[in-house]
Amino acid sequence: MNNQYVFTLDESFCDINEMQMIYHRRKDDIEEGLGHFQRSANKEPYMVFLMEKYPFLGELYNFYDMVESLPLHVDNPRKCTINIPLWNCNDSETVVYEFIKKLTDKERKDIIDDLGSGFWSFPVKKEDIKEVYRFCLTDPVLFNTEYPHEVLINSNSKLPRSSISWSIPAEYSFNDVKTIISG
Ligand SMILES: [Fe+2]
Repeated sequence: MNNQYVFTLDESFCDINEMQMIYHRRKDDIEEGLGHFQRSANKEPYMVFLMEKYPFLGELYNFYDMVESLPLHVDNPRKCTINIPLWNCNDSETVVYEFIKKLTDKERKDIIDDLGSGFWSFPVKKEDIKEVYRFCLTDPVLFNTEYPHEVLINSNSKLPRSSISWSIPAEYSFNDVKTIISG
């Protein structure tokens, strides 16, 4: 996949087995002051190695174990993220939308001001958007979180959809990171 929404990373980007081992080691390592799904990358030597190799990688990553679909939203403040499948991602789809009428900077700011500080995403109304792309997370990808998106989980799937979402600081756009990786 290589479009404005998602960019599949080369196999050499990271070792999924290492990421699965990190999940096992850190899953229950709840950190003071962080969300229950957030972890510090600097605790894991392999992640420190990756942060030195790819300076755009942020200090925090998230574990997601989805048993239900993830509602439609736009991330805030991050603009893109690295998503890494761990287990059972084959039975789900990420759906990407575009605004039918693009939000102006002022409309976006008003939504953010209304929500207050400390939120990680803002909701989107289905009537304001149209579907433009959907994919299954089978390989690590760079994902553009500035577009509305949701994750649909097959209701028959028995096991959680487990993935790592490694945040990229908001000063980097999807295209910035794509250019660095492709460089
Ligand atoms: Fe998101």
